[in-house]
Amino acid sequence: MSAQELETIARAMVARGKGILAIDESLPTIKKRFDSIAVESTEDNRRAYRDLLITNPGGNEYISGMILFDETIRQSTAEGMPFPQTLIRQGIMPGIKVDTGAKDLAGHPDEKITEGLDGLRERLAEYKKLGARFAKWRAVITIGDGIPSTACIEANAHALARYAALCQEAGLVPIVEPEVLMDADNTIERCYVVTEITLKTVFNVLFHQGVTTEHTILKTNMVISGKKCKTQAGVHEVADQTVRCLLNTVPAALPGIVFLSGGQSAEIATVHLNAMNMKYKNLPWPLSFSYGRALQDPCLKAWAGKKENITAAQRALLHREKCNSLACLGQYSADMEKAA
Ligand code: 13P
Repeated sequence: MSAQELETIARAMVARGKGILAIDESLPTIKKRFDSIAVESTEDNRRAYRDLLITNPGGNEYISGMILFDETIRQSTAEGMPFPQTLIRQGIMPGIKVDTGAKDLAGHPDEKITEGLDGLRERLAEYKKLGARFAKWRAVITIGDGIPSTACIEANAHALARYAALCQEAGLVPIVEPEVLMDADNTIERCYVVTEITLKTVFNVLFHQGVTTEHTILKTNMVISGKKCKTQAGVHEVADQTVRCLLNTVPAALPGIVFLSGGQSAEIATVHLNAMNMKYKNLPWPLSFSYGRALQDPCLKAWAGKKENITAAQRALLHREKCNSLACLGQYSADMEKAA
């Protein structure tokens, strides 16, 4: 694959008004999601649910790519068409989560290191054959008493950079995802500081490992108050602090930045993205979305594991996709939720 082709994929992932739908929940995570609607996490149920997400009529107007899980990239629609080909036919690029999860970081209580580098070259070659155009690796940075440590940030940045270099070698665009978690009681200011050092470290190590910026997509958290913080920063502050942090850390040559939702409600995740794109029109990169929960939650609830709910579930998903597509252009309005 030529450098030009990789850049074309990266730019298409963040095409105007389009974003990425993350449906790459690991087995423990999808079990948690299914528990919330009292559906058993069997392979059949997981296939049926991903089928409705992947075949949603009209989704290709708003969605450039979907991130699949190892099990999902090997599954097929009810009619027997493999999921990756089903996506490609609709003009949606299949992506694949390739890390094997965040494990305890030795010697650093409450901190995680993401694993999955062993055998990654061979796995990437297989995923490419199965139709993947891009990949994702998520690192987790936890805010707490005296953490994150430099050791945690550096070890995760190093793993992200080695993963990204292997992806580019294999002809896949890496989504580099260092997620500063929003679960603690920290202020937005602390989130800013931790996100800034994390992103500075990540881009420094990406450079040292020879990862080309033009063929990389950043997936990051917004700069936001911790969920348990008593004072919650408002929409404009989140937008301003997030954009300031990105301008201070992300190279202009990067084709695009997508946000994770990280536990924000579906609507707030849209409102925040919209605020950034409404206020900041001339940024070096498009700001888009790669939400999991914030796109899927209303759809998952509407589905509730029942065949007769598939149409309603797909409508709920399409609505969130459309709202977020408009948020990429700064054209979303809360009225859209009333009409839904
Ligand atoms: P959330 O949007 O639910 O945070 O998930 C996005 C994702 O892919 C995290 O890796």
